[in-house]
Amino acid sequence: MFNVNQIFAAPLAGITDKPFRRIVRMFSPNTPMYTEMISCHSLVGAHKNCLRNFDRYDDEGNIGTQIFGANAQLMADAARILQDAGATWIDINMGCPVPKVATRSGAGANLMRDHKLAEKIMRAVVRAVQIPVSIKTRLGWDDANRDWADLIRIAADCGVRFAALHGRTRAQLYTGVSDLPRLVNSPIPIIGNGDIKTSADVRRVADLGYSGAMIGRAMLGRPWIFGVLNGICGVPENVGVVVLRHLQYMVEYYGEKNTVPMFRKHAAWYSAGMPNSAEFRIRVNGITDAGELVDEICKFWGCEVKV
Ligand SMILES: Cc1cc2nc3c(=O)[nH]c(=O)nc-3n(C[C@H](O)[C@H](O)[C@H](O)COP(=O)(O)O)c2cc1C
Repeated sequence: MFNVNQIFAAPLAGITDKPFRRIVRMFSPNTPMYTEMISCHSLVGAHKNCLRNFDRYDDEGNIGTQIFGANAQLMADAARILQDAGATWIDINMGCPVPKVATRSGAGANLMRDHKLAEKIMRAVVRAVQIPVSIKTRLGWDDANRDWADLIRIAADCGVRFAALHGRTRAQLYTGVSDLPRLVNSPIPIIGNGDIKTSADVRRVADLGYSGAMIGRAMLGRPWIFGVLNGICGVPENVGVVVLRHLQYMVEYYGEKNTVPMFRKHAAWYSAGMPNSAEFRIRVNGITDAGELVDEICKFWGCEVKV
């Protein structure tokens, strides 16, 4: 089976920020993690929100910084900025299906149907940095174009070190089930991604010939999943303490006012499936004060510790 370095946490926009990564690393410090995707335009233009996206704790381990864009020169410049900022590796987004990224700006998943542009970007980025470059992609644009293997071959030729493959097409978005193909003689290591939740799922990915597994949505409300899969820890006895810690890191980073609305989704994920979670969510959604949120969390999980 895979070791700690082979079970990746997926990039999730709006989620894998600095505080979230710290919570994951509390349970599994060496898990390879990605930033949220960062626009090369905003990065090179030094937009304030964007600088935040690659911010990291000094003691943060393995961190891949993911960039998206359709301009090779800007992508190369962005990669250099991230290298200087301490990225462990640079990842190029070649799978994001949202219209703003894929159709309107020609980036993300669009690169799966424009291999010439994808190649130009990969060559420019690989040339620009000394650290490894990876790509994250899907099976193809749609069912008629499942040409992921061609893109991987081009990536290997450009000097890309490894790829993550999500077992859906762009047309599928997040519907249906992820269907990872069996790998035979891949020119670079490929990390399998899509619907992986359990150690049995991880084993299945290993059996299909992948060099690692990448977990996305299954870490929502369960940041300990990597610790559990790696045999480092179990599910924490008092989840409320983890929730409070996560809240505390977010308050320290974003400030109270910004954190309270941002934390609602995390509170919902942490409480999902628990008795009275629907009522808890409704109460949390009405809260605008961080102190009240702490009280609500303490009440729900029955924990004593306060932030
Ligand atoms: C809310 C959300 C945000 C995402 N953000 C990104 C992103 O910034 N970059 C990226 O390459 N993929 C992104 N993805 C795709 C995931 O990384 C992953 O490929 C996908 O969710 C399938 O894996 P899973 O079934 O384990 O979640 C996002 C997915 C979701 C649901």
